[in-house]
Amino acid sequence: MMSAADRCVDEFRFRFGRRGPELIPIMLGGMGVDISNADLALEIARLGGIGHISDAMVPTVTDRRYDTTYTKEKLKRYKYNVKSLDKSGVKFDLGLLAEAQKMHVLRTMERKRGPGLVFINCMEKLTMAAPKETLKVRLEAALDAGIDGITLSAGLHLGSFALIEEHPRFRDAKLGIIVSSVRALQLFLKKSARTRRLPDFVVVEGPLAGGHLGFGLDWARYDLRTIVAEVLDYLRREELDVPVIPAGGIFTGTDAVEFLEMGAAAVQVATRFTVTKECGLPDRVKQEYFKANEEDIEVNTISPTGYPMRMLKSSPCIGAGIRPNCEAFGYLLDANGHCAYIDAYNREVEKNPHAKTIHVWDKTCLCTHMRNFDCWTCGHYTYRLKDTTHRLPDGSYQLLTAEHVFNDYRYSKNHEIALPPREVEPAPAAAAS
Ligand SMILES: Cc1cc2nc3c(=O)[nH]c(=O)nc-3n(C[C@H](O)[C@H](O)[C@H](O)COP(=O)(O)O)c2cc1C
Repeated sequence: MMSAADRCVDEFRFRFGRRGPELIPIMLGGMGVDISNADLALEIARLGGIGHISDAMVPTVTDRRYDTTYTKEKLKRYKYNVKSLDKSGVKFDLGLLAEAQKMHVLRTMERKRGPGLVFINCMEKLTMAAPKETLKVRLEAALDAGIDGITLSAGLHLGSFALIEEHPRFRDAKLGIIVSSVRALQLFLKKSARTRRLPDFVVVEGPLAGGHLGFGLDWARYDLRTIVAEVLDYLRREELDVPVIPAGGIFTGTDAVEFLEMGAAAVQVATRFTVTKECGLPDRVKQEYFKANEEDIEVNTISPTGYPMRMLKSSPCIGAGIRPNCEAFGYLLDANGHCAYIDAYNREVEKNPHAKTIHVWDKTCLCTHMRNFDCWTCGHYTYRLKDTTHRLPDGSYQLLTAEHVFNDYRYSKNHEIALPPREVEPAPAAAAS
């Protein structure tokens, strides 16, 4: 009998419903802030898979990419409040937020080529000082601007379908959700039942993923395969035809085949694409990912969202004590203007009234640090990235192309990982040895 190791992902295809385009069952997961950027997502779509952009901190992203000035204008508007501990008056202008989101999506979609799709990852935990209102604007603007699909993430999203049920594209765009347990999926389906619309897909994210985790600090007790089996079983029992897409720690094509053979429709992957040329991380940070060893990675609780997050222990955001910049950013403020980092920061300032610099260890200012690529969130298997490329004569690692990584997932067998063509010949001494 053929085993998973003898097969490759290319033997499988995926389509949404009967009429959707035939897709390679590889989905690039959303990586905010602008880590899975338009270049990376578009490349995956060109190759026939599904690429994700992210709408995390979208006005800040359009400022950097398209020379808008939303962040500067917001800071100007709320400058009077910078020294105040009370952030309850700091809000996003919903019209401007819609404008930024439309620009972000339109500029991406107008460059789309090839048979694949481009989705957007929308995190509920980005509460933006008015959780419901801002999420509604982000979802609607993405649909207006022609996104192929939306993936609801970082939250239970119990009311998210209802927020957009009146939108003309509510039934034609592909809408899915990320869950980390069958229970979360059951809750979502129950609360969304009134909209008479099933999700078009469900991403089941296990404990080895990057970014925020849908698990506690006991994440290591869980395993993706078991959760996927539970979700598949539940959907079968309920006779619900929803494609299941596992994510988290799928590092080789054979890992992917094992899930496809179990009945998954596709796989969602991210970590291996963090070291591609197209990826939005600065090159110096990509080298940090390559260099990382297993003991250099941790799951901690410094994200103000309350979700554990996996990151490199050397991330500059850990222990940094910068002043909260909510007047410019404020993406994690709740409806009352609270963010766990503000509380932690104020506590340290009170304890050290004369200190020039302070350190905050228990929380981090995710807005500023994600914007500056100083929070090096990563998947568990980041320590294996060094085995996916060549070491260069100067000790750094050769960056990959998204096409190379995609094709490796698509065609490789037996857990093998194809190295890219060398861009630099090794030094003669090294070549001889
Ligand atoms: C650098 C990085 C940033 C991420 N950011 C997000 C995010 O903003 N939203 C989200 O839903 N998932 C995020 N993720 C999770 C991925 O979309 C994906 O589901 C997961 O990492 C897949 O596992 P893998 O990285 O082992 O392939 C992120 C992952 C990484 C590596």
